[in-house]
Amino acid sequence: MYVLIAAAGQGKRMGHDRNKLLLTLQGQPILAWTLARVLHAQPKWVGVMAQPADWPAIQTILTHLAPPLPVDIIPGGDTRQASVWNGLQALPPAADTVLIHDGARCLASPALFHRCQAALSTAIGVIAAIPVKDTIKVVPNPPVIAQTPERAHLWAAQTPQGFQVTILKACHAQALAQQWQVTDDAALLERCQYPVQVVLGEDTNLKITTPPDLLIAQALLNHGL
Ligand code: CTP
Ligand code: MG
Repeated sequence: MYVLIAAAGQGKRMGHDRNKLLLTLQGQPILAWTLARVLHAQPKWVGVMAQPADWPAIQTILTHLAPPLPVDIIPGGDTRQASVWNGLQALPPAADTVLIHDGARCLASPALFHRCQAALSTAIGVIAAIPVKDTIKVVPNPPVIAQTPERAHLWAAQTPQGFQVTILKACHAQALAQQWQVTDDAALLERCQYPVQVVLGEDTNLKITTPPDLLIAQALLNHGL
């Protein structure tokens, strides 16, 4: 298992003046919780995409975690897509498949990484996802609703997302050439007409995005998650 962790964002929606992944939960940076879970899944190699200003803080996290395998820090890009592109260039040559994970999803279980990796033995691409709980409205021109898709067909995408490396690289290259902008890697394979499967994700695998998410994650950690 080879894992890339996207950690090069700015956390604007969190409203702090630094990367949200360096904010703490129970005294540990969010990224330390994420890395601990990834390491628990016993990958062969981990790459963390991060902005150079955050590298010293990430080095400190790694020193504390003392991982028993190589963890490389890779320069982040201006978008998540650009950060993943950089990560793909840094993958060890032996990596046939890769799992990509948001640094902001610090509660994903090691078992979820294993489920995604196992599904990749027969799939080109897989993503963790869960059926949505809310009814979703399509509102291209607020405030008027254009459409209400059938809820039973809707799943919320999470990470990890896993792919055959050659295909993911080819789709990223095509996206660069054609200036496609997407918010997850599965969307690139979909545009290139490759099948991507869902693997049942976890209700608790939230992406820390806005301040209330910190409170929810704290409560989940307090309950031993
Ligand atoms: N990410 C990244 N490189 C970027 C932008 C985002 O690696 N240029 C990472 C983030 O660090 C995060 C993940 O992608 O772990 C998901 O992105 P998101 O939750 O949107 O985080 P931010 O972009 O940091 O937050 P915001 O959009 O609120 O600024
Ligand atoms: Mg973002």
